[in-house]
Amino acid sequence: MSQRTKDILSKMTLDEKVYQLVQVTTATYLTGENKIDVITGPNSTLKLDRELVYEVGTSLNLVGAETMIEAQTNYLNNSKKKLPLILMQDVIHGHRTLYPVNLGVSASFDRDLARDLAQMAAKEASLDGISVTFAPMVDLVRDPRWGRVMESSGEDPYLGGEMAKATVEGYQGDMGKYNIAACVKHFAAYGAAEAGRDYNTVDVSERNLREYYLPAYKRAVDAGVKMLMTAFNIVDGVPCVGNKHLVKEILRDEWGFDGVVISDYSAFDELATHGVSENQKECAYLAMEAGCDIEMMSGCYAGYLKELIQEGKISEEQLDKSVLRILNLKEELGVLDNPFRSVNPEEAKRVQLSKEHRALARRGAEECAVLLKNDNVLPFSKDVGSVAVIGPLGNTGEIHGSWKCGGKAEETISVVEGVKGILGDKVKYAQGCQIEYNSTDESLIDEACELAKNSDIVILCLGEHQEYTGEGNCRADITLPEVQYKLLDRVLEVNKNVAVALFSGRPLAISRLHETAPAILDMWMPGTEGGNACANLLFGNAIPSGKITMTFPRTLGQCPIYYNHYTTGRPKLEEDDYNRVRFTSSYLDIPNSPLYPFGYGLSYTTFEYSDLKLSGDTMKSGETLVASAKIKNTGKYKAKEAVQFYIRDVKGSCVRPVKELKGFEKIELDPGEEKTVSFEITEEMLKYWTREMKFEAEKGEFHVFIGKDSTCKPFATFQLI
Ligand code: BGC
Repeated sequence: MSQRTKDILSKMTLDEKVYQLVQVTTATYLTGENKIDVITGPNSTLKLDRELVYEVGTSLNLVGAETMIEAQTNYLNNSKKKLPLILMQDVIHGHRTLYPVNLGVSASFDRDLARDLAQMAAKEASLDGISVTFAPMVDLVRDPRWGRVMESSGEDPYLGGEMAKATVEGYQGDMGKYNIAACVKHFAAYGAAEAGRDYNTVDVSERNLREYYLPAYKRAVDAGVKMLMTAFNIVDGVPCVGNKHLVKEILRDEWGFDGVVISDYSAFDELATHGVSENQKECAYLAMEAGCDIEMMSGCYAGYLKELIQEGKISEEQLDKSVLRILNLKEELGVLDNPFRSVNPEEAKRVQLSKEHRALARRGAEECAVLLKNDNVLPFSKDVGSVAVIGPLGNTGEIHGSWKCGGKAEETISVVEGVKGILGDKVKYAQGCQIEYNSTDESLIDEACELAKNSDIVILCLGEHQEYTGEGNCRADITLPEVQYKLLDRVLEVNKNVAVALFSGRPLAISRLHETAPAILDMWMPGTEGGNACANLLFGNAIPSGKITMTFPRTLGQCPIYYNHYTTGRPKLEEDDYNRVRFTSSYLDIPNSPLYPFGYGLSYTTFEYSDLKLSGDTMKSGETLVASAKIKNTGKYKAKEAVQFYIRDVKGSCVRPVKELKGFEKIELDPGEEKTVSFEITEEMLKYWTREMKFEAEKGEFHVFIGKDSTCKPFATFQLI
């Protein structure tokens, strides 16, 4: 902490210090007809004082350079201390130029791309006056019912950590003019909500927590993330915002994080709703004791922290530490010297949605898409006479996904527009059905079939509405609606040249689609340039290279289903997948294997893996080994491949996962070209939380795998001696 911030702190009254820990909406400081009254308006529950509200430390949720300037100006004009606000916002997958939802970004298996996309978002957001984003969300996820899987990087702790690091680096850079501070969230294990229902109970063992859920947050902390947000859920019976074990013991003491900790929206109050505190005063006490600096949108600190300090229940020294962290962030962001930081309405107009940003968003959407099936249908030839785009997601800009920040549907390229960009007037559209999950309206199918019959090829745009994932958007049924299947079946009766472009923010249970559709290209929710990216992929201007980071189940009944599960005492052999073997860990009615495994994704080319090697068969503590493979492009197209490296710890003092991703590299190969990809095996990589709860590598046998997805087989074994 700098001398400057310490000096500022030394001149602050107790009230002023407490208010630095309060966060309200940025709109609180708007003027004129947008003015909000803090006593009677929407913030009336926050117990704000009319004067002290101008000493609040940070604010959230407003987009637009002019309004940001208005809010900051008004705040400073009325503030006694004149410590500028830090303006925060959820910049989740782009600001004005949107790129695919984060689950899609992780499917790129490309750290540089994730970094570049976050950097673009930071630049656009900083020009709008935003200084902090509530991202990345690094919650590990296993249940596709949960709406927030769209914001995550899927089911793997290593991949999640790599994406977390790259994203933090992209946002924060060297904290220059066009960077913004990142806030990793939601600490901890928010993704483990039972039954995939948002805000629901989380009950994971300490081992499971440390082995699977915590690594990605830790990686963000090690990458220098400036802030961290606690989760809504409980862990071991205690809501995260008041969870001393998580925040104080693990985050602060064990990991040494000294950045700002913020609660989630009104989570202080929810300590009482959870039933672990009696009133707001106790909420304030529990959160402060746990180590939470900023209270987002509830009135516990504003209402009671001063009282708690005066009563000696919380020390002023503790308050000072929190205030200093916030002041320090203000100093680092430069707002103490320049409250308006990088806000610049003119430059924002030039930069946001610029040609370069659109190009990056388009490349992002191309690299994130996953080809799930292709019976020699794709890529379509550009020499076709007529193209039918059919389906409720074919002619709309509403393909951003939730958390669209400043993104606008009318500025977004639909699939029809994208395909017209390549083929012009040969393209016609029919809606075919409605998008709503409960729609049974079949009245549009005939017209769509008529179009399909008279067209050479059909692009069928199916999936979910963009707001069927995201916060509070959970689903108990993750199949496609019957009407979409009927549309597909009827179209196939008149035209077999069909590719499905699938849009969703989650893995869907699409066994039936897999059986009938000749080709499936998963676009996720692709963002502003989604239609162009989709068209480029379908017509071979871009080659699919994404691989899924969350397992696609055959049916929801298999969930939670994830590749890196623990070994059971009665495993079912892979070769028996389709046979019933009673008294093994299996189902009577379906195989254990998923529809599409983690790491799976096709290309228009083929890759051959050969010469798989391990540099030795023993490894002493402190030594390393190298695993390598040759990968050759044996097809016709220049294309990218995400090469994956897994290890299995065969025996430990605790049960170990059947396989764990330990490395990946995305390579690009010309037709006929071959490259060797190597992965170094370090002792650190082999460590896990042993029976004694020590993070250690245990001696013994390890299996090594390199392959194109998580079903690859081991090719070598070594002993750690
Ligand atoms: C969400 C957070 C988000 C916050 C502020 C909450 O409801 O859980 O992820 O950052 O709102 O918008």
